[in-house]
Amino acid sequence: MTDKPLIIIGNGEIAEMAHQYFAYDSPQEVAAFAIGAEYLKEATLAGLPVVPLEEIAASHPPDRYDAFVAIGDGQLNRIRRRQFDAMKALGYRLASYVSSKAFVWRNVEIGENCFILEHNVLQPFTKVGDNVTLWSGNHIGHRTVIEDDVFIASHVVVSGFCRIGRSSFVGVNAAFAPHVAVGEDNFIGMSAVVTASTEPDGVYQGHPAERRSVSARRYCRVRD
Ligand SMILES: CC(C)(COP(=O)(O)OP(=O)(O)OC[C@H]1O[C@@H](n2cnc3c(N)ncnc32)[C@H](O)[C@@H]1OP(=O)(O)O)[C@@H](O)C(=O)NCCC(=O)NCCS
Repeated sequence: MTDKPLIIIGNGEIAEMAHQYFAYDSPQEVAAFAIGAEYLKEATLAGLPVVPLEEIAASHPPDRYDAFVAIGDGQLNRIRRRQFDAMKALGYRLASYVSSKAFVWRNVEIGENCFILEHNVLQPFTKVGDNVTLWSGNHIGHRTVIEDDVFIASHVVVSGFCRIGRSSFVGVNAAFAPHVAVGEDNFIGMSAVVTASTEPDGVYQGHPAERRSVSARRYCRVRD
């Protein structure tokens, strides 16, 4: 774990949440927020400076600061991914936050720019890719793989041996049977009961979950 101070990318609700969690439940001090100049509203947020993203490498260079991209699931997580890639290209290390109140078994693998909140349970041999958000209270069963750029809302049960495909969104209280593989770019509605593997680009809802006719990329207004 690095002790470099942190720049939070964003100035919305997720950024304020990230500030709370990093500042009060991690070894990293938060130094500033950064946001594209056109979105810069106030000069300070939570008592810290908000600096233009275009000047970040000069004002807070990557040899002295880490970054965390605090953006939600918009456009099936593409907005957060674009910013993740931009910060990597500038040379930043992307920090991950794992709540002190999460249960993470010793051999769990977690990538960069992950945001893992309180009361998540990550059982042995689970793998979490880069840029993954696990909001509060999820169960990630043994041997399950969460691919890059996934957003899982609260109180989701992912049974053992599952795979959640890249860039997918999972709504609150969804449940996945063991060995289910979710295709990439899926939108899984809240309380869906996913009993079988899913196709890419699908919107799934209900119990048992069924595929809606709409494309998930279209439903979530993805612009690649
Ligand atoms: C918000 C949400 C409930 C509604 O989505 P929507 O596309 O606006 O759906 P609509 O309200 O237009 O409903 C379309 C149809 O799907 C059904 N439906 C919508 N959401 C459903 C769900 N979660 N489970 C089962 N059926 C659902 C509706 O009953 C409706 O059926 P009908 O056509 O027979 O009347 C759904 O998109 C969802 O589950 N989002 C995730 C919310 C969440 O967990 N957020 C996390 C916060 S961090």
